[in-house]
Amino acid sequence: MRHKVIDLPMPRRPLLERMVFHGIVFNMSWEDPEMDRQAFNLGSSDTVISISSAGCNPLNFLAQRPARLISVDSNPAQNALLELKLAGIETLDHATFCDIFAARNPSVVTRVYADKLRPNISPRSQAYWDRNLWMIERDLYRYGRMGLFCRILRRFMNMMGISAAIREEFFELRTLEEQKAHYERHFAPKLWGPWTRRFVNFRPLMWLAGVHPRQFNLIDGRHDMYEYVRERVEYALTRVPVYDNYFLSLAGTGRFRGDRLPPYLMERNFEALREGLHRVEVVNGWLGPYLDSQPAGSISKFNLLDIFDWMTPAVFEQTLRSVLRAARPGATMIYRSGSYRLEPPASILPSLTPHSDLAKRLLAQDRSATYGSFYVFTIRADADGVVRSAAADSGAALAQGAAAGAALTGREAVAAG
Ligand SMILES: C[S@@+](CC[C@H](N)C(=O)[O-])C[C@H]1O[C@@H](n2cnc3c(N)ncnc32)[C@H](O)[C@@H]1O
Repeated sequence: MRHKVIDLPMPRRPLLERMVFHGIVFNMSWEDPEMDRQAFNLGSSDTVISISSAGCNPLNFLAQRPARLISVDSNPAQNALLELKLAGIETLDHATFCDIFAARNPSVVTRVYADKLRPNISPRSQAYWDRNLWMIERDLYRYGRMGLFCRILRRFMNMMGISAAIREEFFELRTLEEQKAHYERHFAPKLWGPWTRRFVNFRPLMWLAGVHPRQFNLIDGRHDMYEYVRERVEYALTRVPVYDNYFLSLAGTGRFRGDRLPPYLMERNFEALREGLHRVEVVNGWLGPYLDSQPAGSISKFNLLDIFDWMTPAVFEQTLRSVLRAARPGATMIYRSGSYRLEPPASILPSLTPHSDLAKRLLAQDRSATYGSFYVFTIRADADGVVRSAAADSGAALAQGAAAGAALTGREAVAAG
């Protein structure tokens, strides 16, 4: 195993969260990596921290050859999926890797798991996959909470008269004009109405889709969930080129299309991924306590997905304070929200330089049809009144970080965040 794994103490989560968000929830990272790539402009001296989710975007970053990649998730099953992918990169050829993780011929996983994959993942992930490998064998994108949600969604669209054939045809369209015409003829008149309103307002279904209960309340409380979903879906289907939209193709047809894949599944990135495996740390734990364990000024890129939608305002602020402390001067932080507006708290804003035009431009090309807002911030060198200097070099941060991470296992997590 060439990647490192760190297990942090984790306080018990609320019952609902434990019930809904355990096991594989996200079978794919539902954030458009092209937005992250342009926002980060990664270099070989960068230390990137990302929330794992299904591991796709951390691996998309690894393909860009950063000095260090830290992937954190409070749900160990998500990290087990990332580890299985890392073991696949380490031991398989690209074709077999794609058979499994692009689900072209996923059952081959049973031939390579025991001898190749299992010896290269942590004991915790071995325990998970020893019980759950069937999900990969039968096609990862049909399973996990999100996989189940997408199967229900496709059934629902069939019932509404938007057949699989209509959906297949849509994802081969090459112009926005064609998309708009197809959408207005085959989707809009059938999709939007009382049945779909009931569908998106049925909370357990949206939890299956990975919408955290707090996130549901945030969106519905501010924007009416049905209107929000309609606006986001209509935008993505008519204003963003659909030909290479692997997110919606997976949701709407259950599969990737040819080589229209996430970057980490593309053959041209396989060598870079393999060369970078020893620079990967997988952390089972909460982001805040992990950041507090790291040397000040040691991390240069923060990819935080939409985790702030899952938090109380107090934990939101506390987590941002942990980010400010761990950030290198001039570091970049990006996050998304299901709400059209989720600015950092006023106490934190003076430490940040926003890049609103860039964020708006990138959100306009978002293929995921999921987020109402996207944020790109530079962390000021004198953030929080603390003038900091970058750690001597990423190597030093690497050694310090790994040592501190390992040392952390003994320390009590103060408060989840
Ligand atoms: C925020 S969720 C949303 C994912 C995204 N919308 C998607 O579809 O891919 C992504 C992951 O963040 C993890 N997570 C949420 N809050 C966290 C925190 N404070 N620290 C670490 N992981 C967290 C969850 O376990 C989940 O796997």
